[in-house]
Formats: sequence, C-alpha cells, structure tokens
Amino acid sequence: MIKIKVPATTANLGAGFDTFGLALSLYNEFFIEESHRFTIETNPKDRFLENPENNLFIKVLKHIYSRENKKLPPLHIRQITNIPVARGLGSSATAITAGILAGFYLLDKPLTEEEFFDIAYRFEPHPDNLLPSWKGNFITAVKHEKGTVYQQIDFPTDIKAVVLTPEIKLSTQEARQVLPKQIPLEDAVFNIQRASLFISALMNKNYKLLKIAMEDKLHQPYRKKLIPCFDNIVQNGYEEGALGVSISGAGTSIVALATENFENIGKQMLKALNKCKIKGNIYTLNIDKKGAILQTANT
Ligand code: HSE
Repeated sequence: MIKIKVPATTANLGAGFDTFGLALSLYNEFFIEESHRFTIETNPKDRFLENPENNLFIKVLKHIYSRENKKLPPLHIRQITNIPVARGLGSSATAITAGILAGFYLLDKPLTEEEFFDIAYRFEPHPDNLLPSWKGNFITAVKHEKGTVYQQIDFPTDIKAVVLTPEIKLSTQEARQVLPKQIPLEDAVFNIQRASLFISALMNKNYKLLKIAMEDKLHQPYRKKLIPCFDNIVQNGYEEGALGVSISGAGTSIVALATENFENIGKQMLKALNKCKIKGNIYTLNIDKKGAILQTANT
C-alpha cells in the first residue's frame, strides 16, 4: 500500500501571475493498493471521480505506464478530497503530482525534474501550482525554453492564509479566457514592480508593504468580474487587518495573508460574499513546508 498526501496551493498572490505559488496546509490524499480488479473509492463520495475516464490521478498514472509501454495493473485507489475543486486551490495539481509520484514509485523509476515537468505540463501547463504542490513552501517559477527553473523560498511562518472559497466553481480554462492577449507596457511595469516588492518585503519582514505588493493589473481586473462582491470581500479583509488580499490562482477563492485576527478576517470576507447571496467556506491555513509526501506501508 502506498499513500500520497499533497498540499493545496495558492498561485499568483496578486502580482506574481503564473510565477508565484504557495503550498497550504489542506491536503488531498491518494491511497494505492494492489488488487484483483481496478476500483476507485472516493471520500467524500464522488461518482464523477469514480469513473477512471474522468479521474485525473488515474489519467496521469496511465500516461506514465504507457510511456513505458506498460499497462496499468489492477489497483484499488482510495482518494480523499479535502481541497475544493475548481476554486483556485490547486486541486488538479494535487492529482497530477500524486499521479507522477505514484507512477514512478510503482515502476521503480527515479523521477527527474525534467520528467516531472514533461508529464505534468501535458495535464496542466502552469508551474505555479504544480511546483508548490510537489515541493511545498513558496515557489517562484520560470518557464524557460530549456526547461522550468524555480526557486523555493522559506515563507515566514508567522503569516497564515485565510481562504474564502465561494460555492461557485470556475475552471482555469474559463478564467484564462477572460484575459486580454496583449497588455499595455505600463501594466507590465506595474506588475514587475509589485512582484519584486513582494519578495523584498518578505525578505525584510516589511509586511506592511504586502498590500501594495499584491496589487495586480494582469489578471485580477478581468477575473474579479467572475467573483460576485469581490471588491467588498477584499475591502472587508483589509478592514480586519489582512496584510494582502488577492484572488487565489484562477479563482474563485480569495486569499488573505495575515499574522493576526484570522477569524474576523474570514468572517467578514464571508459576510461580504453572503451579501451577494453566495455561500462560501473559510479555511485558515498554515504554509505547508514539505510538499507532497509518499509513504509506503513500511515507512
Ligand atoms: N497562474 C494560473 C492562472 C494558475 O492564474 O491561470 C492556475 O493554474
């Protein structure tokens, strides 16, 4: 039996579009056992995911076996889903990362970074969710013509992420369709300045600057229209002392970074969402420092 536990991620963090990703202490778990026939069990029960044709974890596993000209053996898969799906918290990245780790373990093959990206990008082309789900902590990623390069930075542990997850689902594909193909030079400069400030403010523990550092002109002005009451949610977060608030990944979740008053930040952000007659959940999460963990019956 093997178990793989993979963290949720929040990508972008405002100005770091397609670049920044942070792993959070909310996990999906995948248990794999040898079996006589192929079965998938989900918790909470999810008929869609129990169909192997729909299950991203299985699709990745199958792909890895087919690269080796092998057929996936019959397995019993148990999947525990704690991360809300299609809400900008990297649930797809968990399935991809877990599928890759499981596939290489089952085939007894060492996994290189090159192979990880080669496989992962077939299913999701954005390293800002994939990398923190695999490696944990805070990641800055660059897709270079010669491959993906990244840096992992130890994120301050006194900062937590208060995440508001509206009940509205939004696929990354839909959320990318609303983005412009071209942007003005001043918007590019706006984001470079703020993304650089984000890293510098963290390094110098000058957290007051995170509010400016998490401003963005590349994606949020377009995507916020897909999230009812977005401006009021952000305002309520700041009024309760959040350091910085942004759309989490492609949305629809909203993440507030904070060092205190977590409960009130969550409550007031939810209140603003509820005013638009939309329900939601609040998660107060720590930064995950470990990334994906594979355990066997012997470990
Ligand atoms: N950076 C990506 C986006 C994250 O915002 O579309 C989603 O994978």
